[in-house]
Amino acid sequence: MQSKLAYFALLTLPTLQALAAPTSADTVPSDELPTPETPLFPFEENILPESIAESHPEVAFANTTSPDLQKRFFLSVCKTIPSDLTWPAPFLWKTLDALLSREGKLIKTVPIGAVCYNGQYYNKARCDVVQNTWSDSDLHDEDPTSVMSPFFTGNTCLPTADPNGKCTLGGYPYYAVNATAVRDVQAAVNFARNLNIRLVVKNTGHDFSGKSSGAHSLSIWTHNFKDITYIPYHPDTKGPAFKVGAGVQVFEINKAAQQRGLMVVGGEGMTVGYAGGYIQGGGHSPLSSILGMGADHVLEFNIVTPNGRFVTANKRENEDLFWALRGGGGSTFGVVTSVTVRAHKTVPVTTLSFVFSTPNDDHFWSIIKAYFSTFNAFADAGCYSYFASFAPGQFLMNPGIFCPKQTPATMEKLIAPMYAEMAKYNVTADGKVLKQHNDYYAAWQHTFPKEPVGGVTGQPASRLFPRQNFAKGSYLLDATTKAVREVVTKYGFLIGFNQAPTLAAGGVKWDETSVNPAWRSANAHIITTAQWPLNATTAEVEKIRNDLTKVEMKKWRNISPGSGAYLGESDINEINFQQSFWGAHYPRLYSIKQKYDPTGVFYAATAVGSEDWV
Ligand SMILES: Cc1cc2nc3c(=O)[nH]c(=O)nc-3n(C[C@H](O)[C@H](O)[C@H](O)COP(=O)(O)OP(=O)(O)OC[C@H]3O[C@@H](n4cnc5c(N)ncnc54)[C@H](O)[C@@H]3O)c2cc1C
Ligand SMILES: *[C@@H]1O[C@H](CO)[C@@H](O)[C@H](O)[C@H]1NC(C)=O
Ligand SMILES: *[C@@H]1O[C@H](CO)[C@@H](O)[C@H](O)[C@H]1NC(C)=O
Ligand SMILES: *[C@@H]1O[C@H](CO)[C@@H](O)[C@H](O)[C@H]1NC(C)=O
Ligand SMILES: *[C@@H]1O[C@H](CO)[C@@H](O)[C@H](O)[C@H]1NC(C)=O
Repeated sequence: MQSKLAYFALLTLPTLQALAAPTSADTVPSDELPTPETPLFPFEENILPESIAESHPEVAFANTTSPDLQKRFFLSVCKTIPSDLTWPAPFLWKTLDALLSREGKLIKTVPIGAVCYNGQYYNKARCDVVQNTWSDSDLHDEDPTSVMSPFFTGNTCLPTADPNGKCTLGGYPYYAVNATAVRDVQAAVNFARNLNIRLVVKNTGHDFSGKSSGAHSLSIWTHNFKDITYIPYHPDTKGPAFKVGAGVQVFEINKAAQQRGLMVVGGEGMTVGYAGGYIQGGGHSPLSSILGMGADHVLEFNIVTPNGRFVTANKRENEDLFWALRGGGGSTFGVVTSVTVRAHKTVPVTTLSFVFSTPNDDHFWSIIKAYFSTFNAFADAGCYSYFASFAPGQFLMNPGIFCPKQTPATMEKLIAPMYAEMAKYNVTADGKVLKQHNDYYAAWQHTFPKEPVGGVTGQPASRLFPRQNFAKGSYLLDATTKAVREVVTKYGFLIGFNQAPTLAAGGVKWDETSVNPAWRSANAHIITTAQWPLNATTAEVEKIRNDLTKVEMKKWRNISPGSGAYLGESDINEINFQQSFWGAHYPRLYSIKQKYDPTGVFYAATAVGSEDWV
């Protein structure tokens, strides 16, 4: 973290500051450039003082050669839980709070729905708000511990009109640290490691598998790391970049980029966190077919590693960690506090949306097959689509097809085979909107509204389908359509994305990031969700989940052998998740996990190294 001052001075030169547009490669001669590290955010300057760590063993930094630590790990195979004698006494938690950047940062978990239950937290007005806005992602991302897939907290303490029920912690963390300084993150990591407590990280809570929550844990809540800095010229890419705090969400970075005439590779989902699970898991984007994955554009991470130290990871320092964080998954190698990403000049975009329906199921799937047959051409044209079906015979080309740098005429041509098939069955496209937008931001805002979250009775699963599955006129196209039809008919749920984040699009080499190699030859990411009635018994739910993973998803695996799934939107029970989420990158990821986190401070279901806990 040295020598940042010189670079900072460069950035604050008024002339450079005034530049709103990207700086071209020849504006600043590269031999005059100082270290490429970006300056620290103020919250990153506030680190845990050595003197405090030395005088308080509970927040001491790790010394992996210390026999004491090894003994502790050897003796306690499991993490400590509140009923254990070794669980920290209240005074120790008070000590932790006192050592944070400010007192009161340690929050004792009160589930968001507690206001609906009799007792000290009961509050009818607030309960109404929680109940009425349950499907709004902001309700959850603004809460220290609430997550958007409550099934994984055991559906505990859900908002209810009946206050007589029982509200328990279930799968919620025990405490959360409202982190506003790197010091808070370091103290929490050290405390959890030294006292053998389960540690989780929560940013927004979007994780499909509830991995930003966990029973008996101490959680680090990164939501308030909201800083964004514009970097007009980054020496690594000789172009503009943004440094983004770990709590920044997609809508915030998109807006900041738009104000400079730029764009970054970020999700379609506006409230998703940018630097947390999204970019560390790879990150697909409406720009994927022209620019690859979000992780392809990372220049640097700042991170608190499992030993409690705050380090920089980029191409020169901690390169192995840098590589692992570019696709290896969240909650595995440490707590990222900020990420620096390359920005690109914004582009015009054309978008298309419509819906159709037909009572004839064969006609419906024949039209879908015709749509699938356009996937390769759309991907080659740089397009991304997000489509859905939630009821038999009803198709939503919605949010729609998103084509950077394409015209309405080109899009009409690309979609023609689907329209032709619709015409064959007298099916019409309803509510059609074909629109050209001046820039990425306008198109993104127009196309991707906030999505509802918070479902309590479903289990998702997904698959990345390779390009050859959609070759026109091929046997595989028929087989793919058939397999998708069978599963979607069973569950009445389809969400699909046509996109091709190739290495060429991302401008990266095969081994430059740890992004799932399956993404590089895929051109569709298709999700389904098995659902059950609210009153289903545990046995019924388990049977449904088991069928999804083992029976139904097998149909998708069988027609895409060797491919995989996107960990960011996946089945928590994914079979052979190591291969599925990381393919040939797994052995290296696992060894980096062992190097940085030998005692398993970080754990999340299906994360790298998680198999060591089961
Ligand atoms: C409505 C919706 C829309 C979505 N849209 C997209 C999309 O367009 N593209 C896409 O690729 N994915 C999308 N996703 C999936 C999303 O990227 C993943 O769920 C992602 O993990 C969310 O990251 P988060 O940090 O916002 O969420 P969280 O649930 O808070 O965290 C996710 C995981 O990352 C860990 N984590 C969070 N912050 C940090 C940190 N600073 N350091 C280390 N670990 C951390 C958590 O512990 C957890 O394991 C969407 C999901 C939803 C629900
Ligand atoms: C780590 O622990 C060993 C053994 O207790 C000690 O000799 C060494 O000085 C420690 N290293 C650091 C950096 O504290
Ligand atoms: C978290 O900390 C911030 C900054 O101190 C504060 O504004 C906010 O209210 C805190 N949130 C909670 C839930 O305590
Ligand atoms: C479509 O409509 C035309 C004219 O109304 C009709 O002749 C034809 O049989 C219809 N085709 C189908 C498949 O319904
Ligand atoms: C759940 O409710 C449905 C409809 O109300 C009923 O038919 C079914 O038997 C119930 N199942 C259980 C396990 O109670």
